Amino acid sequence: MSIPSFPNTGRMVDYWLGGSHHFPVDIEAAKLFEEAYSNFRTFFEQLRDFNGRVCRYMQLQGIDQFIVFAAGIPTCGNVHEVVPHAKVLYTDIDLTNIQFGQEILADNPNADYTFCDVTNLDTLNQSVVNKILEPTRRLGIVLVGISAFIPDQTLAETLDKLYDWAPVGSFLALDFDGDAAVHYPKLLQLLQDIGTPLLMRNPTNFLPLLGRWQLTEYAINPVEAWHTKVSTDSIQIQEPVFSYGCVVYKSIRFS
Ligand SMILES: C[S@@+](CC[C@H](N)C(=O)[O-])C[C@H]1O[C@@H](n2cnc3c(N)ncnc32)[C@H](O)[C@@H]1O
Repeated sequence: MSIPSFPNTGRMVDYWLGGSHHFPVDIEAAKLFEEAYSNFRTFFEQLRDFNGRVCRYMQLQGIDQFIVFAAGIPTCGNVHEVVPHAKVLYTDIDLTNIQFGQEILADNPNADYTFCDVTNLDTLNQSVVNKILEPTRRLGIVLVGISAFIPDQTLAETLDKLYDWAPVGSFLALDFDGDAAVHYPKLLQLLQDIGTPLLMRNPTNFLPLLGRWQLTEYAINPVEAWHTKVSTDSIQIQEPVFSYGCVVYKSIRFS
């Protein structure tokens, strides 16, 4: 494997979670980010816990096959580890992550890793999809750790295309960033400087982006609290929030 010249957030997360699939360039970037915000380790531990909870929740709804977008490294409690009997197709745009993923999953007949730019589903090779997933069967879609970098219109279009693509009865889990990062101006500046400005949202302005997807009973909540209680009425949220999460589904009522 050739050593990448640029860091990747998926491998930085791997570093923060104590994994072993990252390079010095990723560690260097992670340390630079820690100078602007020292709690990345906890942040990504909580996000990975959320990732696990949403997958187990979807499994309880009868989902036994998952597609993961912007997946990063498939270790440290990633999807196939928390739902070990399910079929899982991981995707990402980073070629090194894909290579790592294919090596890690080489002996696993239930999981694979391939390229997809989540903002352009045409980049997903359907024949690879068909090797792992049954196209007409309900899907669990995981979109975690990426929406904070996708502008509203593109995110709404992406979610809309995923809705059309997913079989009826499918579920989708995603997170988005709240405005807690405003208290860390150095972090915002750093993200701005590298060309990935952080897009901060709240449940009210995020909800319309979901389009036809229907919210499940656990609604939109801070990721660390999601699934702790059914919240059909007003959510008691302690501001500021770093990251919100939800699970939505494709209802039979819509076509
Ligand atoms: C912060 S990491 C999140 C990884 C993992 N989902 C997690 O929660 O730990 C973001 C990942 O998204 C990938 N990525 C960035 N832009 C993408 C895009 N347009 N489509 C698919 N993946 C993308 C990066 O390569 C990186 O692996």
